[in-house]
Amino acid sequence: MRRTVRSYVLRQGRVTAAQERALAELMPVYGIAFKEELLQPAAVFGREAPLLLEIGSGMGETTAQIARERPDADFIAVEVHSPGIGSLLKLIEKDQLKNVRVIRHDALEVLEKMIPDGGLAGIHLFFPDPWPKKRHHKRRLLQAPFLALLASRMKPGASVHVATDWEDYALQMLEALRSEPALVNTAPDFASAGSRPQTKFEGRGRTLGHRIWDLVFRKVSPPC
Ligand SMILES: C[S@@+](CC[C@H](N)C(=O)[O-])C[C@H]1O[C@@H](n2cnc3c(N)ncnc32)[C@H](O)[C@@H]1O
Repeated sequence: MRRTVRSYVLRQGRVTAAQERALAELMPVYGIAFKEELLQPAAVFGREAPLLLEIGSGMGETTAQIARERPDADFIAVEVHSPGIGSLLKLIEKDQLKNVRVIRHDALEVLEKMIPDGGLAGIHLFFPDPWPKKRHHKRRLLQAPFLALLASRMKPGASVHVATDWEDYALQMLEALRSEPALVNTAPDFASAGSRPQTKFEGRGRTLGHRIWDLVFRKVSPPC
């Protein structure tokens, strides 16, 4: 998928000394380098298990919490923001999480180049950057071509869970998800958050009085 407009701007922000150390010492242990080569999850995790991808893991608390609660599954977090990656690496080390790996790269290219077709049992896309100004809407990650790519990487029965605190983006997401023929809604329109932990970005939105919209769509089986 050719793309000139990215869904993020790399402002690295302040990296703390602890995050810096984590990036230097733990990235070689828990990181996966971006390569134009399909990932071999069984080799990475040393087992066969359902593989879930989190896109834009932010500071990583939600990633770590879900991974703690689901030792039966393996998780790959994709993020471009160094302080967030450092923070997640620290959590992986602190909790000795064997089922999380981190890729520091654009999720779009990771999906295109590293994730095999039908390789994912689930996708988490929690609070993607809302890009609220109309002239920035083209930067929004969840749009039709990206969704088609996501759907191609999901196994039949796998689900994609999306959440936002931005109403017009929520409506745009609902329409785009409904228009993707490989996916079916698990709810009449918006879903409940289910067991999804509250994310850091969500917490900020709630403090500002924002409503939260969750969407959970499942990949349909191909016709026989
Ligand atoms: C609004 S934050 C939400 C973070 C976290 N999910 C949460 O809810 O607290 C969105 C995150 O997505 C990341 N991001 C945006 N576009 C991305 C892309 N194409 N690939 C990987 N990460 C991306 C940003 O760096 C940012 O950390």
